Order: sequence, then C-alpha cells, then structure tokens
Amino acid sequence: MKGKVVLANDHGAVELAAEVKRHLEERGFEVKYLGIDHEESVDYPDKAEEAVNEYRKGGYEFGVLLCGTGIGISVSANKMKGVRCALPQTKYAAEMTKRHNDANFIAFGGRIEYPQPVTEILDAYIDASFEGGRHARRIEKMMALEGK
Ligand code: RB5
Repeated sequence: MKGKVVLANDHGAVELAAEVKRHLEERGFEVKYLGIDHEESVDYPDKAEEAVNEYRKGGYEFGVLLCGTGIGISVSANKMKGVRCALPQTKYAAEMTKRHNDANFIAFGGRIEYPQPVTEILDAYIDASFEGGRHARRIEKMMALEGK
C-alpha cells in the first residue's frame, strides 16, 4: 500500500471519478472516496470542504477534486487554509506543480477534453517530487497571502 488519497467530485465528473478512483487503487493507493456516483446535483464547494477537512485529519499524501471543469472545486478548495490545489491541463503542468508549487491537491474537469488522458496527467503529478530550495521560499510567500 502506497498511501492514502482523498477523492471527491460533484455531478459534473461522475465517470471521471470512477476512472480516477480505479487508477489510484491500481497504483496501490488507499482511496477515501467522498464523491457522488450519480448525476443528481450537489454543490462543488461542499465537496471541496468535505475533502479538505478529511485531508486535514492527516495521513493523506494528496487529494483529488473533480467537477465539470475542475475550476469551481479547485477555487473552493484554495479558499481553505493550507491548500494548494492545482488545475493542470497537461502532464507537463502536472509535473511542474509538484516540483515547484508542492501542490497538495490536484483538480480535473469531467467535461473537459484534455490533450492527454487524465490518468496520465495525474501520474505525472504523483511521480514528480518537490524540489525545495527557491521554490520553498516562494511557497512560503504564497501561503502568507492567505487571508489578505
Ligand atoms: C456544475 O454544473 C458545474 O458548474 C460544476 O461541476 C463545475 O464545472 C464548476 O466549476
């Protein structure tokens, strides 16, 4: 077992959530699933809040948030202290957000047509490592913006 991941979605990403969950489990992660598996509408800020609160309990490597575009749920999560939720569109962006931004959440859109499979974009994030150094200084500055 590799570690724990929290996963949440709204009705805009039901199929994508199932695919991401399966992929994470195949990779050996234990997935705490807080999403919905039906198309009945739920509010993405509620799903973001639930997932971040779960992550804050500790023991999680990262979180995955999904909505129709990935935008609403990532913006919502980024309103909560300590969250750095990235919304990458490509493998390159996903890799860099781990290496430079040390993103602790990653978001995708179930209604977005990505140029690469979401599971591969997710893998690029998972397989990268935070570089520290000057990036740690920038993250400190970024987090100091919270509440301003
Ligand atoms: C829900 O219809 C949709 O607005 C939501 O999934 C997301 O795309 C918002 O950013």
